[in-house]
Amino acid sequence: MKLLAGNSNRPLAEAIAAYLRVDLTKASVHRFADMEIFVEIQENVRGEDVFIIQSTSYPANDNLMELLVCIDALRRASARRITAVIPYFGYARQDRKPGPRTPISAKLVANLITEAGANRVLTLELHAGQIQGFFDIPVDNLYGAPLMAPDIANNLGSDNVLIVSPDVGGVARARAYAKRIDANLAIIDKRRERAGVSEVMNVIGEVEGRHCVLVDDIVDSGGTLCNAADALLAAGATSVQAYCTHGVLSGGAVARIAASSLDKLVITDSIRPTEGVRVTDKIRVLSVAQLMGEAISRIASESSVSSLFD
Ligand code: R5P
Repeated sequence: MKLLAGNSNRPLAEAIAAYLRVDLTKASVHRFADMEIFVEIQENVRGEDVFIIQSTSYPANDNLMELLVCIDALRRASARRITAVIPYFGYARQDRKPGPRTPISAKLVANLITEAGANRVLTLELHAGQIQGFFDIPVDNLYGAPLMAPDIANNLGSDNVLIVSPDVGGVARARAYAKRIDANLAIIDKRRERAGVSEVMNVIGEVEGRHCVLVDDIVDSGGTLCNAADALLAAGATSVQAYCTHGVLSGGAVARIAASSLDKLVITDSIRPTEGVRVTDKIRVLSVAQLMGEAISRIASESSVSSLFD
């Protein structure tokens, strides 16, 4: 097995390598003056089972291009099998046409990764599970819940805890969390008036006197969570925390979360946490290194990955 790290999340790649007790394959990524990416793999990978670890997070297009160029280099170097390990799959939210004459960019990105030469994909908490079908190669989609649900149970127990989906689209995910810790479920009926702005409309469920835990796949601007927290407290909740697998946290999101009525936000390191995230005590980061490392190990040994979903 060979492990290659892109530049998007080197600390996670190093933690995965440490879990697997393998060294990262030597490679260099250069930029030409016009910002074109040039990759050189500095070890023989002929006939090897290669895993390239790269989240397509901010800057999404640079990191995506770096992933594609690395896959191409590996294919031309005769790697036996190339697995794109994409802890955070950017563009996943563009998985349908929101209006006429708009793209389905998640499908385009899936095509690009496949055409570049990836033989399989390992990813985490896809925005929608159906995105697996955008690929005609095998996709293993891990979940954040096996990591985060025990953390919720350890910190809050399950008495008086209510799992809350911040929008109707996240109900299946929230139900899975609720089932894991034997808690009840509530839903926020959110209406987004225009892209990037969210508005909480209605809390569906009995939240009064409860410790509410919002669960979501992505926290981006933080608007969804902050508005949801306000709505839950206004409806009588005792406290509100949030667990989101991917901390996109763009723009002023960290400051918005820090100033919000949320007690705590827990994310994972699927996206490299910024300095701002590391210094705020409102946000805690759980590592997916062991989960992803174990999945890589099982793929390499052709054993079952599905038990990691339990
Ligand atoms: C939307 O469908 C996603 O699951 C998240 O709720 C959304 O991306 C969060 O975005 P923001 O933090 O900008 O409100």
